[in-house]
Amino acid sequence: MHKIVSQNVNFYYGEFQALHDISLSVKENTVTALIGPSGCGKSTYLRLLNRMNDLIDNTQMSGTITIDGNDIYDKQTNVDDLRKNVGMVFQKPNPFPKTIFENVAYGLRVNGITDKKIIEERVITSIEQVALWDEVKDKLHKSAFELSGGQQQRLCIARALAIQPSVLLMDEPTSALDPISTSKVEELIYELKKQYTIVIVTHNMQQAGRISDNTAFFYMGELIEYDKTKTIFTKPTKKQTEDYITGRFG
Ligand SMILES: Nc1ncnc2c1ncn2[C@@H]1O[C@H](COP(=O)(O)OP(=O)(O)OP(=O)(O)O)[C@@H](O)[C@H]1O
Ligand SMILES: [Mg+2]
Repeated sequence: MHKIVSQNVNFYYGEFQALHDISLSVKENTVTALIGPSGCGKSTYLRLLNRMNDLIDNTQMSGTITIDGNDIYDKQTNVDDLRKNVGMVFQKPNPFPKTIFENVAYGLRVNGITDKKIIEERVITSIEQVALWDEVKDKLHKSAFELSGGQQQRLCIARALAIQPSVLLMDEPTSALDPISTSKVEELIYELKKQYTIVIVTHNMQQAGRISDNTAFFYMGELIEYDKTKTIFTKPTKKQTEDYITGRFG
């Protein structure tokens, strides 16, 4: 069974239709890359998967999206539970003005976990999962702002993992990072897919090629082509896809 199934999804900001009839399914424990030129709707689509667009006024969505078979736009859906299950990492590292430890513990506390031992265990495990432990173990109670950008981004990923989601959404998570930090985050994504289902927006074609199993090419709000990453990059069927991946536009 597919983990995430989108069927005939349309999305509007006011009068403007940002997504047109998107149908796309994602298997569990895979990495799916969303690519396409600026403004084509990648972030809009990504944000639909944990209902972050609900926070924007005057928007409208039609079609269905299910995760684990549950319609996430159903009236019965608890949005807080959904967002616990579907974590998100943004383009710019956005640690809270708190200590390294408290950044990762935050989501646990918000979710009502008070047991000190459980919090400590989860914080350590999450920081280990993002391969940051050795770099921060001696300064867990220092401000997260004392970390480098790449370390902050891994911390933000740890923060997302601490609340044990099953889906991880990443919107250009390495675009603000240097090549070394980028490759650390890429290696991490590769490791994480054993446990999580990952959907990642990237403008970096090489990155999509390195880390994703499947790639979806969006153009002007439409899903033009969706296939195995290898197929998209070696023999796409649509001319627009080929033009984009070969750098002829976008
Ligand atoms: N809050 C908003 N209100 C109105 N229109 C919006 C809003 N957010 C995005 N849009 C519009 O929706 C379209 C898709 O935007 P989106 O941010 O999803 O694109 P994107 O593919 O993520 O682009 P980029 O690669 O630049 O991040 C664009 O035309 C954009 O101007
Ligand atoms: Mg975007």
